[in-house]
Amino acid sequence: MSYLEDIPQPENGYYVLVTGSNSGLGLGICTRIIDEFLQTRPQIESLVLIITTRDKKKGDATIETVEAHLRKVCRQHERTLPGVTQLLQGRIHFRQERLDLLSLVSVQKLSKKLRETTPKLDVVICNAGIGGWTGLNWPLAVWSFLRRWRMAASWPTYKISGKGWVARPQLPAKDGQPHEEPALGEVFCANFFGHYLLGHYLAPLLARHPRSQGTRGRLIWTSSLEAYAHTLNINDLQGITSEDAAYESSKRLTDVMGITSRLPATSNAVDQYLDLPDQSADTTKPLIYVTHPGITATTIFTLPLILEYAMVIAFYVARWLGSQWHPITLEKGAVAMVWLALAKQSTLDTMEEKEGVGKWGSATDFWGQERVERTEVSGWGWGGRLGEYKRKGRDPFAKDLTKEEREKFEETGKRCWEEMEALRCEWEDRLRQAGIAVEME
Ligand SMILES: NC(=O)c1ccc[n+]([C@@H]2O[C@H](COP(=O)([O-])OP(=O)(O)OC[C@H]3O[C@@H](n4cnc5c(N)ncnc54)[C@H](OP(=O)(O)O)[C@@H]3O)[C@@H](O)[C@H]2O)c1
Repeated sequence: MSYLEDIPQPENGYYVLVTGSNSGLGLGICTRIIDEFLQTRPQIESLVLIITTRDKKKGDATIETVEAHLRKVCRQHERTLPGVTQLLQGRIHFRQERLDLLSLVSVQKLSKKLRETTPKLDVVICNAGIGGWTGLNWPLAVWSFLRRWRMAASWPTYKISGKGWVARPQLPAKDGQPHEEPALGEVFCANFFGHYLLGHYLAPLLARHPRSQGTRGRLIWTSSLEAYAHTLNINDLQGITSEDAAYESSKRLTDVMGITSRLPATSNAVDQYLDLPDQSADTTKPLIYVTHPGITATTIFTLPLILEYAMVIAFYVARWLGSQWHPITLEKGAVAMVWLALAKQSTLDTMEEKEGVGKWGSATDFWGQERVERTEVSGWGWGGRLGEYKRKGRDPFAKDLTKEEREKFEETGKRCWEEMEALRCEWEDRLRQAGIAVEME
């Protein structure tokens, strides 16, 4: 039996890949997308959910979890519609793959495999990530909560960041000697650069959408509320020398590049990145969307169990004090990602036409009713429009958008795109010269 027979390829398949699927928001995205797909998509459509994990044990456990979730959903539907289980189960297919974003070769291997075995991709949700923090400044944390609870629970300034963290070497040792290679920032690589390469290699699959259908492949990049402008240093985009904000820097880079990917100023670099030489009626350029999950209770910041409970309580209090950015549970935190993954193309296009390209966040009301909410981005506002002003949900460093700030944002985006494209090409050459690159075609 060929291994291709194990790979689901249903007719009318909707192919969604999620990175970091085995825990936290990744799991929330996987379970939520099953629910929403079954509720909102026509019966002739099937979901192919491609989960990616760093090892098979985590992959098997994730498959077990999502299968159990699907069984639970079916049981609920059975109560109102006996016999529907078979139909529902036939519409959801799972597949698991290996991906370590800190290994560029791992990114290439997965991409090659997908390109050889998958007819197309509709959505890639770049969710995996690390915080790179080493602890908390406790006195500052306590003081921050006592002074301004909501602020402290939404935009913490008391996390202590690891400094100078670099990913393990990409090139194998030769004759017992390590290869000379430039450092690759660890947080930068896990949160941004690994996904950046993945998006590049998967672009041809994401592009397989005939123009006549009016749909586009979607690359969904996960950012954060903590993507402060001042944390991104144009001379150190990898955040290696950053004193206290490698994570925030990687998220600001995500915002800047994701949002400027639609502007004419970056079109050369973006076209090169999306690598679509054979533009035909059967292909459409994929689009990049930026999202964030608000504040969700996961183990991205490791705490002793008792403090984890305290953290969750602190989040609920923040919500009840008026924070819209505390979805807290995994499924609610995943609302923005899943909405971006499943919304009709015409809905997204119309919203962007009316209000500009934006950063889409998971939010809730006092009662925990989740919704998707535009989020302010420093230098861009809510949609790149001057004069737009919403009071709610602004970060402590927020300033009203000016023409100069808007221009600077665009200029920074252009620089970042050029730098990232150069870095991608440099690393591809380096892997090739070391004889370990995985060639795609
Ligand atoms: N939680 C929040 O409140 C919050 C807020 C803003 C943004 N975010 C963003 O949301 C995303 C998910 O975070 P989370 O809170 O769900 O964190 P989490 O529970 O720690 O999950 C992170 C996931 O990423 C995977 N991962 C980490 N490093 C990886 C690598 N090198 N290669 C492949 N996978 C890797 C982890 O896999 P392993 O199990 O193998 O480590 C895990 O599945 C991140 O991008 C984070 O920045 C979260």
